[in-house]
Amino acid sequence: MSVTNGVKRKHDESSKDEKHATKRQRLLPSRRALPIWKRASDIRQSLQQHNVLVLSGETGSGKSTQVPQFLLDCAWCRGKIAVTQPRRVAAISLARRVAEEMGTPCGSSSPASKVGYSVRFDESTSPSTRVKFLTEGMLLQEMLRDENMKEYSCIIVDEVHERSVNVDLILGFLKRLVQKRRSTKRPLKVVVMSATADVDSLTKFFESSNRGSAAVNDIHTSSDDIRKRSLDADESIDSADAVSRCYVEGRQYPVKLEYLGTPTDDLLEAALHRIFHIHCKEPMPGDILVFMTGQEAIQSLQKLAEEYAEGLTKEYPRILVLPLFAALPQSSQQRIFQPAPLNTRKVILSTNIAETSVTVPGVRFVVDTGKAKMKQFRNRLGLDSLLIKQISKSSADQRKGRAGREFPGQCYRLYTEDSYNKLENDNTPEILRCDMSEALLKMKARGIEDVMNFPFLTSPPREALEKALLQLLQLGALEEDGSISAIGRQLARLPLTPSLGRVIFEASRPERNCLPEVIDIASCLSVESIFLNVDTEEIREQAQIARGQLLRRQGDHLTLLAAVQAYAAERSDRRQWAERHLISHRAMQSVMDVRKQLTAQCRAANLLKGLTTQEASTAPDEGKQEQILKCFLRGFSGNVARLCPDHSYKTFVGNQTVAIHPSSVLFGRKLEAILYNEFVFTNKAYARGVSAIQVRWLEEVLEA
Ligand code: CDP
Repeated sequence: MSVTNGVKRKHDESSKDEKHATKRQRLLPSRRALPIWKRASDIRQSLQQHNVLVLSGETGSGKSTQVPQFLLDCAWCRGKIAVTQPRRVAAISLARRVAEEMGTPCGSSSPASKVGYSVRFDESTSPSTRVKFLTEGMLLQEMLRDENMKEYSCIIVDEVHERSVNVDLILGFLKRLVQKRRSTKRPLKVVVMSATADVDSLTKFFESSNRGSAAVNDIHTSSDDIRKRSLDADESIDSADAVSRCYVEGRQYPVKLEYLGTPTDDLLEAALHRIFHIHCKEPMPGDILVFMTGQEAIQSLQKLAEEYAEGLTKEYPRILVLPLFAALPQSSQQRIFQPAPLNTRKVILSTNIAETSVTVPGVRFVVDTGKAKMKQFRNRLGLDSLLIKQISKSSADQRKGRAGREFPGQCYRLYTEDSYNKLENDNTPEILRCDMSEALLKMKARGIEDVMNFPFLTSPPREALEKALLQLLQLGALEEDGSISAIGRQLARLPLTPSLGRVIFEASRPERNCLPEVIDIASCLSVESIFLNVDTEEIREQAQIARGQLLRRQGDHLTLLAAVQAYAAERSDRRQWAERHLISHRAMQSVMDVRKQLTAQCRAANLLKGLTTQEASTAPDEGKQEQILKCFLRGFSGNVARLCPDHSYKTFVGNQTVAIHPSSVLFGRKLEAILYNEFVFTNKAYARGVSAIQVRWLEEVLEA
């Protein structure tokens, strides 16, 4: 390296450092203004004395960004701090924000970066990482790698009020781990954070692990006099065993509320109308946040809104419509956090992700459809279905609160006041309504044999646990005696559901020999739909023509494979290719990312080793097509339906009528039997992600 180069690099580095430092200084005043700032020393002190802190505070009070920073310099905090998030969007955006606030680069961009993140298929950390934001699933993965979590001094579990099944598992594991590390030199500190004030059950949960103690330390921070007291104070209890609690009041401006006078059936139309009513009639600046059910509804509304906006005269400001949902690629996520360009109003169309998990700046108006997509597992049928459901009162109130973060705002509920009054108070924890097989496999992989006696915050129904045990047995993940098998250990480490993991594992067997192709398909199934919505007959026809060469008569799995292979082979302009085929370029970029990561993980797990072909996926001949479908059948043997004499499909398990979803390439086809990835119940029961299979394959596949 020449002297001039060396000098230049030093100069570049120091100018980067300066930039980081300036940014840090610039952000300091807004950090100091956050309600939680005043509580910094209380929070530090209570964790000095106790191992567990339950911290509740309204969204936006500064919990996720500030608490890890408060703890970094504590004497007990020599190791890393983990902060879990239910969604990848939040994990990444928080890491970026906290890195800016600390004046350090983010993630793997520099070896000196102190803040990083780890989400499925994307780990961005450095050797100096001290604060790591990770999705709940990734923390669980780390817990499998090192059950004592030695690297960490503190684990912060955020957004606990969402009560995802992963959070419930994490809490159960942490409860035991705090006990295990309590008398070591480096006790583990745990902060449990929630946006709702109802923290009694959390406190009790952690108390009960602490040698039966019932010691609680309350830090009442809603008033300025901080009262510390110990309920049921028992001098003999080690103070580290007590659970401390802290409540931080939020900063909330008043929000004017408006309901519909009469209920509506057409939420898309109602939302569109409300957006443009606000945009054209409200003189006040401020962005609009619309809560929708999911990606499909969001994309339909985006299209409608963009078309409508084109017809507006120049007297109105411009409109910038931005979608926000969990599967959104990173590059698109960032746009949500940037201020709108001059003379433009942002309209953010979001799933419930923006309820508490992601704070969208600049919002003054909220439009709430009152609905959300939720997973519901039906134990008896063994079917996991995605249902569009009414939200709870607490979700509705959180949504409303988003309008009053920075200034007084307005919330329009696209339902009647009467409907609001009839809503459930809180969301049902996911553990009561989900397929438990993934959770159970993780527990088994962590050496928990007696799953029925695991310390759950809310116990799942016995029926769900039994069903999951059966499914894992059937996948070959458990031995007959209920202990985890070698395959089970492999599956637990793959960032996929046990079913999809089993498909991957099956594909790696020499007699199947189709792992690269199956990885391509599994990558597609790990992001939301790659095909753009074709909701009108005319567009459907257009799509059929454009996608013609990609469609496969065997069904959606091989069609996805053809799409990935064609996209990967496109060397000139992939964006244009995607547009031509009415395929989402954004989703395809994610597929490529996932494909790379999955391939690396399969290689690390030695799954790619025994293959006779090279690692690249190739257009499959008929024999290989059959092998690919058989791999999927191995993982999803419960998701099979056969054609009945009345021309309907009935599931093998549960004998439930199910129709092929209109989004499938097999829509309207009558086939001997079908295999599907997903059971969706909207107005009726649909199978999504469908392929044609032969019934006789089942026996062969399950016997192998
Ligand atoms: O966790 P909680 O909802 O209590 O608050 P937070 O996420 O720590 O957010 C505190 C403030 O940090 C927000 O009001 C935003 O001003 C800012 N923030 C941001 O600018 N970008 C993010 N990705 C997250 C937070």
